[in-house]
Amino acid sequence: MTTLTIARPDDWHLHLRDGAMMRAVLPWTARDFARAIIMPNLVPPVVTGAQAAAYRDRILSALPDGMAFEPLMTLYLTEDTDADDVAAAHESGLVKAVKLYPAGATTNSASGVTNFDTVRPVLDRMADIGLPLCVHGEVTDHDIDIFDREAVFIDRILDPIRRTTPGLRVVMEHITTSDAVDYASAQDDTLGATITTHHLVINRNHILAGGIKPHYYCLPVAKREEHRLALRKAATSGEKRFFLGTDSAPHTDANKLLPCGCAGCFTAPNTLPILAQVFEEDGALDKLEGFTSKNGPAFYGLPVNADTLTLTKSAPDLPSHVDTDDGPVTVFDPGFDLHWRVT
Ligand code: NCD
Ligand code: ZN
Repeated sequence: MTTLTIARPDDWHLHLRDGAMMRAVLPWTARDFARAIIMPNLVPPVVTGAQAAAYRDRILSALPDGMAFEPLMTLYLTEDTDADDVAAAHESGLVKAVKLYPAGATTNSASGVTNFDTVRPVLDRMADIGLPLCVHGEVTDHDIDIFDREAVFIDRILDPIRRTTPGLRVVMEHITTSDAVDYASAQDDTLGATITTHHLVINRNHILAGGIKPHYYCLPVAKREEHRLALRKAATSGEKRFFLGTDSAPHTDANKLLPCGCAGCFTAPNTLPILAQVFEEDGALDKLEGFTSKNGPAFYGLPVNADTLTLTKSAPDLPSHVDTDDGPVTVFDPGFDLHWRVT
């Protein structure tokens, strides 16, 4: 097969940031994706419907002329979140999900949730109105090993939340373990799970063996090879509950290459060439469209995009860095030569 045409993809987990960074990275997403779930972890975070509306306007103003892109906005859940404001933002069509960060779990999560009982009224309301909860699934306890934090979160936080608020639609975001794949696979269709580009490609050796590689450091951190293989199997299975959320998370090189560097891989520019190669290697090119373009809309109750995207088998011409007014951002290096390009 030398060309592949699929319904235009969407990205169900994206960091666009704001200001100069947003202006530089947004075109790379809009080139290949029709829509994206926009993460609200700005500083300060996007908590209210009014803040989400203003952020949406800033995104649309940063979009270059002639490009089409629909930002699907989210609200950042805090212990002070007002359920009425959330319901109104959903009712107006502005907000498509609410994001739960356990406080301290990742970049700009300090305003997240510590006591999960506090947010139960908001979660109950979301279950009533069918508004999905996107979950960063890692506990933050210092006594839990960072490689175990996702599995422990499922047992201690996620499963109890789903039992206490039945019917709540939940997206397990950027899953990184076979534990998460197994849990997701055993649930009903109120549960979805996103998988990133980079977690299909790297394991923890890529970060730590032969010298430390800050550009491969992201959260949740990549795990053992057996987990990467479980993610590959889930993504290429065609199972409707698994869909693409790139978690493309740009940080300037200056902020990555520090004694305490930021977490995040910037995958927006080369996600589709990488995924085409991953699915091809696994003999599952026929499942790529489900993962990138169909399963996500089905979970969110949105139509599949009417336009298409074509991949052609030839080496893509992609930059290794994207320049921003704040400095360069390194594009995720999959560690192999790409041979599919978006045409
Ligand atoms: C994200 C970021 O930089 O905002 N970083 C990351 O490593 N994925 C936050 C997140 O999604 O955890
Ligand atoms: Zn993220």
